[in-house]
Amino acid sequence: MPALVLLGAQWGDEGKGKATDLLGGSVDYVVRYQGGNNAGHTVVVGDQKYALHLLPSGILSPGCTPVIGNGVVVDPQVLLSELSGLNERGVDTSKLLVSGNAHLITPYHETLDKVTERFLGKRKIGTTGRGIGPSYADKINRVGIRVQDLFDESILLQKVEAALDFKNQVLAKLYNRRAIVAEQVVEELLGYADQIKGYVADTTLILNNAIDENKVVLFEGGQGTLLDVDHGTYPFVTSSNPTAGGACTGSGVGPTKISRVIGILKAYTTRVGAGPFPTELFDEDGEALRTIGGEFGVTTGRNRRCGWFDAVIARYATRVNGLTDFFLTKLDVLTGWERIPVCVAYEIDGRRVEELPYNQSDFHHAKPVYEYLPGWTEDITKAKTFDDLPPNAKAYVKALEDMSGAPISAIGVGPGRDETIEVNSFL
Ligand code: GDP
Ligand code: IMO
Ligand code: MG
Repeated sequence: MPALVLLGAQWGDEGKGKATDLLGGSVDYVVRYQGGNNAGHTVVVGDQKYALHLLPSGILSPGCTPVIGNGVVVDPQVLLSELSGLNERGVDTSKLLVSGNAHLITPYHETLDKVTERFLGKRKIGTTGRGIGPSYADKINRVGIRVQDLFDESILLQKVEAALDFKNQVLAKLYNRRAIVAEQVVEELLGYADQIKGYVADTTLILNNAIDENKVVLFEGGQGTLLDVDHGTYPFVTSSNPTAGGACTGSGVGPTKISRVIGILKAYTTRVGAGPFPTELFDEDGEALRTIGGEFGVTTGRNRRCGWFDAVIARYATRVNGLTDFFLTKLDVLTGWERIPVCVAYEIDGRRVEELPYNQSDFHHAKPVYEYLPGWTEDITKAKTFDDLPPNAKAYVKALEDMSGAPISAIGVGPGRDETIEVNSFL
């Protein structure tokens, strides 16, 4: 069982950080394979709370080697400040490995992210403003700057100049902004080089060797399935592939090496930013989910949009990721509702639809078809086994499992490491 993927099954913020941290004590490597510091992964260890953006959650487990894979976009300033923040709290970060092939987020990517959003006006995506999209766009356009470029000053300048050639025209002529000076960007980037150099490694080779030696490697996704640039609610998506295939391209480990794919699934649904969301609530139930669930963004502090569980999305996540298991999180948040609506299908222009429509307009028109499951009032935060749960909570979990297409192997009943019911072992 050497390699597993752990990813978001909805629109992000499902509790990936907690789930990764829980397994971190038993695995040798935790690898981020896509995204960047748009992620906000919360880990609660005892009375300590950590918010990780770029670093893999495995960094909090002393025996584990954290890896930033080639598919990640790295803001060097964020990397160094996150490392020093953890060091100040006594966390040893010396084992970190960073792929030399990962692309950088530079100050001009962040600028472009913000001006593009402003330019889009009411059609904006609601990005995190961290430069994620522009950095991935440069990668695909073959004008990106990679981590390894930090260590060759003349190459770096040539590449930054090439990247800015076109962008400066756009900034000046379209956005009425001052052009960015390549030499200044290079100077800033070079200022990070020495501090980053010691972490840079051939991560693809190291991870493949580790798997051959039967070490356990865990891939930690950022964002979620419905934010995937290919399989999500395009264009209201992020610019990478959080879905399972991204773990392969974003790390250089082939699909035959991956034995298990775990979807992190919230017991209800949330979304940050713009885009369709069929079960979104605009009433006091939505407000209650936000308040009880603490649904405020870890990265941007924005209110998360909240709604009921959507089984159509869960089934879709099972399909496009080849999920072997679910980790159901935040079941405790649903305590106290007399009955809990669950979306089992959509109604689209008068038709009942059981699978996620591939057509964007259809998805925008999708109305949830609800089934109502009986709720529970007992405190479940101390439950250690499935049988400790009240009958209606058990029935809710079983119903979600039947609708979602993969076994629920763990259940979160609180944010802490130990507030988890393990149904089947992941390792
Ligand atoms: P991620 O981006 O997927 O890692 O998730 P976030 O950290 O952005 O959001 C999940 C939030 O839920 C965090 O505040 C976690 O501490 C919290 N959390 C995770 N699992 C549970 C759970 O089972 N119950 C409760 N009440 N909170 C949880
Ligand atoms: P974690 O890993 C929730 C959303 C943004 C926006 C869209 C594009 O914590 O689950 P981007 O800055 O990536 O170009 O923004 O994606 N988004 C997230 N939503 N959780 C995240 O990460 C997210 N990362 C990006 O809100 O709608
Ligand atoms: Mg998050």
